[in-house]
Amino acid sequence: MKASMKAGARPISRRALLTGSAAIGAVLLTRCESISETVNPISASRLPEGRVGVGETAVTAAERPLLLAGQTNPIPAWVYGDAPFPVFRARVGETMRVRLINQLHEHTTIHWHGIRVPNAMDGVPYVTQTPVLPGEDFLYEFSPPDPGLFFFHPHCNTAEQFGRGLAGILIVEDESTAEFDDDVFCALRDWRIDGQGNFLPFITSEGAGRAGSFGDLRTTNLQIAPDIDVPAGADIRLRIANLDPTRNGEIGIDGAEAFIIAIDGNAVTPFPFTSWRLGPAMRLELCVRTPPDGGNFRLLDYFSAEPITLAAFHAQGPARRTGQFTPTALPLVRLPEPDITNASLHEIELSASAVANQYPDLTPIVLPDGRTINLLDSLCTSTQTLWAIDGQTWPEQGHENAPPPILRFTHGETAHIEFFNSSRFPHPMHLHGHTFKVLSASKLSRPVHWADTVLVMPDERVRIAFVADNPGNWMLHCHIIEHQETGMMAWFEVS
Ligand code: C2O
Ligand code: CU
Repeated sequence: MKASMKAGARPISRRALLTGSAAIGAVLLTRCESISETVNPISASRLPEGRVGVGETAVTAAERPLLLAGQTNPIPAWVYGDAPFPVFRARVGETMRVRLINQLHEHTTIHWHGIRVPNAMDGVPYVTQTPVLPGEDFLYEFSPPDPGLFFFHPHCNTAEQFGRGLAGILIVEDESTAEFDDDVFCALRDWRIDGQGNFLPFITSEGAGRAGSFGDLRTTNLQIAPDIDVPAGADIRLRIANLDPTRNGEIGIDGAEAFIIAIDGNAVTPFPFTSWRLGPAMRLELCVRTPPDGGNFRLLDYFSAEPITLAAFHAQGPARRTGQFTPTALPLVRLPEPDITNASLHEIELSASAVANQYPDLTPIVLPDGRTINLLDSLCTSTQTLWAIDGQTWPEQGHENAPPPILRFTHGETAHIEFFNSSRFPHPMHLHGHTFKVLSASKLSRPVHWADTVLVMPDERVRIAFVADNPGNWMLHCHIIEHQETGMMAWFEVS
């Protein structure tokens, strides 16, 4: 039944605790099979949008066949609603009520990535809520405090659930949201599929021990390099979200002038956009002046040897703006200012785990008879501890049996943290419940900005600070999901 279980692969399963629901699962299977209409997203270059905040919105997590561009066989996607990445718009301060209905065969939750929710709404199984079992539902109810571009995803068996497509976008608007001529959204996601309608394993020993397992079908809004029509001579807001579990992009634009106006949903003073290293879970918002009628520009990923086109934009119609391009600035961020002069600095080391460190050279060993063994394969099947935060690895059943917090703050205290990456791979570090200020970084040059996820390069030191003003137990982890699932997760306490 699980397409991801392929011979030779070493999927690391978190499914051990999910097997108690066979009866419900069987009922649900019938129900899922009756919904066999394959969703073909090729027809639209923009994702469908809805609004939350007027009454209750039901979001059903279920398996749906999904036919991706260029494929002949649909894949068994797991989605919220009908297809991956529904876009919801909410308003700042307005209560939104989303009822998660679980029609999967395993438990799930929704984590509202980047939103400063009350702890009980954070969607971390066992830590902030009991998991939502198959056939059950759970009401998420909160008022998003900040405008911006956010997303949501499960926090259970995340490599598989997120890998199969369970994620949605949440755009939070406020009354002062500035005027743009268009608002275009691009969700970047690669798919690990075999072309026969099956997913490839979501965790591989080679990927988990290195930079992660990449997908080979690269999509934007579920299509391969879609053509998107935009108004000509216009100032549009282009919102880009990296919804890939693994890939870092070096995102750029060719053929139009653009400014960065927000990072992870948080406004910045507009600065010229050349390119931006966008790790998993990170978001970027641009103000782009589009070319005159008939002109084109492209969204690119410069990370590979040859730039990859992620989307092609075609400008149409009479020019909306005349004169000099002055990017529209968003209203300034309203977040509590950390007081680092009176706070102690906590260093947090991001490293390979002690176990993985015994095998620093991950090249497979070739035996005299020609067979190869990959040491990580045996490590992965016996333990999930490939990565560590401050020398501590998150155990396989960590959500049920959490190790002690790595940091404790009292309410209102400034948290001042330096991430130090002593490993050979970049880690996009994310923490829950708070938006932090990125103060300095020793390698990648970035202006001071607010974020919820920050990329820490090998050997890099990145300093962040925030006011620990949201009481509860909050996760802190790498957003390369295979790293998170093989130990690179911890939590901190605000009391
Ligand atoms: Cu988007 Cu704990 O994650
Ligand atoms: Cu990582």
